[in-house]
Amino acid sequence: MKILIIGSGGREHALAWKLSQSPRVTKIFCAPGNAGTAQVGENVPIGADDLPALAAFARREQVGLTVVGPDDALAAGIVDVFEAAGLRIFGPRAAAAQLEASKAFAKDFMRRHGIPTASYREFTDSMEAHAYCRSAKYPLVVKADGLALGKGVVVAEAPGEAALAIHRAMDLGIFGDAGRRIVIEECLRGVECSLHALVDGKSYCWFPDARDHKRAFDGNLGPNTGGMGTISPSGSLDAALTARVKTEVMDRFLAGLQADGLAFRGMLFPGLMLTEDGPKVLEFNCRFGDPETQVLLRRLKSDLLDLLEACVDGTLAGQQPEWDDRAAVCVILASGGYPGPIAKGKEIHGLPAAGAIDDVVVFHAGTKQDGDRVVTNGGRVLGVSALGTGLSDARTRAYAAAERISFDQMQRREDIGTA
Ligand code: AMP
Ligand code: GLY
Repeated sequence: MKILIIGSGGREHALAWKLSQSPRVTKIFCAPGNAGTAQVGENVPIGADDLPALAAFARREQVGLTVVGPDDALAAGIVDVFEAAGLRIFGPRAAAAQLEASKAFAKDFMRRHGIPTASYREFTDSMEAHAYCRSAKYPLVVKADGLALGKGVVVAEAPGEAALAIHRAMDLGIFGDAGRRIVIEECLRGVECSLHALVDGKSYCWFPDARDHKRAFDGNLGPNTGGMGTISPSGSLDAALTARVKTEVMDRFLAGLQADGLAFRGMLFPGLMLTEDGPKVLEFNCRFGDPETQVLLRRLKSDLLDLLEACVDGTLAGQQPEWDDRAAVCVILASGGYPGPIAKGKEIHGLPAAGAIDDVVVFHAGTKQDGDRVVTNGGRVLGVSALGTGLSDARTRAYAAAERISFDQMQRREDIGTA
């Protein structure tokens, strides 16, 4: 079967890497891809937002399954476009992808269906938001309603910080339309945990838990990013908590879909805060996480194509994937300045030496082939992933491999797995 993967990040390289191991996969295309996806398949120069061109390509090449990575393609309705053209595609339609694309929509869904989450207020008028923040309790969290590449959330410790976040989103419009509406919510304290579950509308299939490290700098300091590194398992989710997440989040989520008449087929990735009062949902993502996918797929022993097809076909109930008991760690190597402005085109050195360490795989994100050189081409550049007999062993391998890679102004966290 021919596969088309949409996107160009570390997640998409990990998906391509894993799918290429399926005996049923004959060819992988990635649109637009990166220098890493070009090693396991063929890159296609079509942007993830050019839905008609992607559908035309899939039809022409007789692609058997398209797998969507990024949230914005889902929110723009890529699944609706492909399905209307009779093409098989993995991911939720635009109506259900609103659960990620609008925080206000997601919060309303959670409130109506009793899914535990932070209390919140929604604002479309910046004067009202400013007035609210002058008298609110701190810390609190200011969120752009729409998609902002993981950069639309500010945990404000004092009124000045909240006012600045509101001003940037609503008055200056730095996130465009995504920030014209904002959600201001209670700041939750606890340990964060990322869950992934394939959902076919009727049943779901858990992946192991993971933890992202969202802040740019060591010690969980600095601005939020798309994610600077991940571990799996997170070490924070015991059997009792898992049972609560099942009944309080997943069962209510499925019941809510039914009640609202929302068809959801794809990956549901709730970000959770494990608080003293139990698990609470920080956000729903409707796709594979990045960099979470880079550790999860290292641990998946089963054929990913079987799972994705079962999800699309509504037969997930029979699936019991096998997982590697070992721990996985992924350390992101980013361009200096990320998540702010960055320079591109820096030559990357040491990739073969890093990949030569046992149980290490280096996934590409913002990279580009430039003749015989691989150069940087984005904020997050590489994900250095390692499996190990425990978290500490996996960390040691991942950092040993990361140590062998260099490019001008490289930025990474030193505390992935210990923060
Ligand atoms: P989100 O995109 O909504 O997951 O937010 C990004 C990050 O901001 C989360 O992973 C948390 O680290 C932080 N965050 C979001 N909402 C809250 C909250 N209500 N309380 C504390 N931290 C939060
Ligand atoms: N790593 C967080 C995300 O994919 O949203």
